[in-house]
Amino acid sequence: MKIFLDTANVDEIRKAADLGLIDGVTTNPSLIAKEGKNFKERIQEICAIVPGDISAETIATDWEGMVREGRELATWAPNVVVKAPCTPDGLRACKILSDQGINVNVTLVFSTTQGLLASKNGAYFISPFVGRLDDIGLDGMELVRDLVEVIENYGFRTQVLAASIRTPNHVIAAAKAGAHIATMPASVFNTLYKHPLTDIGMTRFLADWKTLPNYEEAIFPKRA
Ligand code: G3P
Repeated sequence: MKIFLDTANVDEIRKAADLGLIDGVTTNPSLIAKEGKNFKERIQEICAIVPGDISAETIATDWEGMVREGRELATWAPNVVVKAPCTPDGLRACKILSDQGINVNVTLVFSTTQGLLASKNGAYFISPFVGRLDDIGLDGMELVRDLVEVIENYGFRTQVLAASIRTPNHVIAAAKAGAHIATMPASVFNTLYKHPLTDIGMTRFLADWKTLPNYEEAIFPKRA
C-alpha cells in the first residue's frame, strides 16, 4: 500500500519524506487555506520535495471551470494530479481531463455507486472519506472494501485512495481492505513506527552495551 501525506505543510512533508516512506501528497482547499501561502508556489514546492503524485484541487463548481482549472494545475508540475469533486460536473470534468491524459483524483466519494461512476470516467484515484463516514455512524472502511472489489471485478485503472484517515487502526484496516493508497495527516503517520517496547528495548540494549570494556571503541577502534 502506498502512503501519502494529507497536508500542505512542507516541514511535515520534508520530515516524513526523509524517512523514504512517502509516495505522494494530497491537499485540499482547507489544507491549503490553513497554510495561508500562494497556492501555485506551495504545490510546486511540494512537487519538488516528493516525486510521487501530488493532488491539487479545483475550486470551480461547473465542469467547464473545473476543466479549465484542471488543465492549468496540470502545467504546474509533471506530478500534479487534479482533484475534482464527485458531483455530476466533477464526473464530466474527470472524463474530459482523463481523455486528455491528465490524471484526476475524484474526491468526496461517499458511496460505491459514486466510485463506480468515477472509475468508468477514467479516474486515476478515487478518494473515499473514511473518517467522515465513521463520523455519521457508518463504516467507512466497508466502502473502501467495496470499491477495491468493484475495481478488481472490471479491471479499472483507478486506484482507491483511502482518505480522511484519522487513526493508525484506519491505516491497518485500509491495508487489509486492499486500498492502493492511504493518505493521512502527519500526526497519524508519525504513530505508525512508534512502539513503547521498541523504546524500552533500545534503552536496555544501550545500557547493557556500556558495561562492555572499551565499548566506545568497539566499532571504530581508535588508532594508536
Ligand atoms: O483526504 C481528505 C481529508 O483531508 C479529509 O480529512 O479528517 O477532514 O475528514 P478529514
